[in-house]
Amino acid sequence: MPALRKYGTKRSTSSAVSSNIFGRSPPAAAGPSFVPDPLPIPSRPAAAAPRDPLSELSSNLGALVLKERGKPEYTLLPLATFQLFPKSWGTVFSSADKLEKIAEASYAEVFRCSNASGTSILKVMQLKVSTNPASLDEIHASSAEMVVSELQIMDVLTEVPGFVQLKEFHLIKGHPGAHFKKAWDAFSTIRPTEYPNPDDYTSQSVFLVIELGDAGEVLENKPMKQIEQVWDVLLQVIIALARAEATNEFEHRDLHENNVCVLQASDSSLTSFNPTEYGDLKLGFSGLQITIIDYGLSRAKLRNQKVAFNDLEQDLSLFRSYDNRENPKMQYDNYRRMRTYLTTGERTANAVPNNTKNINELGHSWKEYTPYSNVLWIRYLYFYLQRDFKKHNGDKAVLKEFQEQTKELRTRMDTRTKDGAFMSAQEVLIHVVEQGWVSEEQLEERGVDSSSFLSEA
Ligand SMILES: Nc1ncnc2c1ncn2[C@@H]1O[C@H](COP(=O)(O)OP(=O)(O)OP(=O)(O)O)[C@@H](O)[C@H]1O
Ligand SMILES: [Mg+2]
Repeated sequence: MPALRKYGTKRSTSSAVSSNIFGRSPPAAAGPSFVPDPLPIPSRPAAAAPRDPLSELSSNLGALVLKERGKPEYTLLPLATFQLFPKSWGTVFSSADKLEKIAEASYAEVFRCSNASGTSILKVMQLKVSTNPASLDEIHASSAEMVVSELQIMDVLTEVPGFVQLKEFHLIKGHPGAHFKKAWDAFSTIRPTEYPNPDDYTSQSVFLVIELGDAGEVLENKPMKQIEQVWDVLLQVIIALARAEATNEFEHRDLHENNVCVLQASDSSLTSFNPTEYGDLKLGFSGLQITIIDYGLSRAKLRNQKVAFNDLEQDLSLFRSYDNRENPKMQYDNYRRMRTYLTTGERTANAVPNNTKNINELGHSWKEYTPYSNVLWIRYLYFYLQRDFKKHNGDKAVLKEFQEQTKELRTRMDTRTKDGAFMSAQEVLIHVVEQGWVSEEQLEERGVDSSSFLSEA
């Protein structure tokens, strides 16, 4: 039986080795947070041997696992000399834990796992590995390279308010077992599944399981019934993005309603606050807390100054999707707008497909920092939230008042606006602070140093 997993705990602090992987500064104080398994003897791959995805992943992630096993002396050796030794499923959950499958994403099945110690979200991804040829043809399996940048960005933003908490990650080899299958069956009886039946996995199947803090439910499943909720989601997203731009030159690049989670904080303030006492202040009246998730398409500068990003040119279908319903239309247009802006510097209202030439041939790359993409997604959420409020509340007068109050915000996000157009989330934040919607104290509570930040941006 595995030891009781501690869901709801924070991941241990950084080490010298994790700075190599994740670009992190050496820690002030280090120390493993749990008693380690015996450390396997690291093996050295032959110098010229071609690297399979598993060893590629090992060199990126392996040392962190060694660090967490509490053997700091090993962390001084070069990363490439290590192979990652997969753990068993029992290290992730025991049959006594409550396990519920909650979502299927492009490359991951997502579970909520709870026990007496707390709750975690488990993002389970099958990896393509040469030792398991069937995985190479599995459309939902990921190559190791696909997940590294997402994990690096999760790591660099894990302590930042408004961003998902990365608690742990596990490389697991083997059949996931009956407990997993039960949760999988329960999901597939109510929703169609595209993922393989767990019975088809074998002892050679390899998975990466990313353990995250529970950020509640996605915006799509949280009806906006009060205008205070609309304000809170919008303003918290702006603050989080602006801060991450300032610290890590972060661009999310995919911030739709399924990549923002909301939790009703226990100290819901809507009933105890009287908004009229607070002048223009808009933040903090609904008790909602937002978390930005899913950095699959994102870009960020790590602590070692390297840039983690997803080369979106590898899958041009992202820029070729069309759907005339309002939300997906604007979502798909946004991918094209990001690409057009990156290649031409044009903030065009027409989402030009611009997909005939690879942008690298035009001298550009998705590694570049173009924080305007964050404005496109703030704008997306601005309209999404209003539509949702209209659907679930419908008070036209309240909506009209919101629209009047946010007229300048809307205009400066409009792709046709020339003068005063917002070019980054930081510029949007300056506007919302100037309007009095967010106070400087609230910014400081969220780790934004308003004096330096607002004067620099
Ligand atoms: N920390 C979390 N807390 C609560 N729910 C989560 C969390 N992380 C993921 N989810 C749920 O799992 C879904 C898929 O996760 P995520 O968006 O990270 O995966 P993805 O593979 O990158 O998705 P896709 O490619 O489909 O956008 C989310 O839309 C959400 O419903
Ligand atoms: Mg997603």
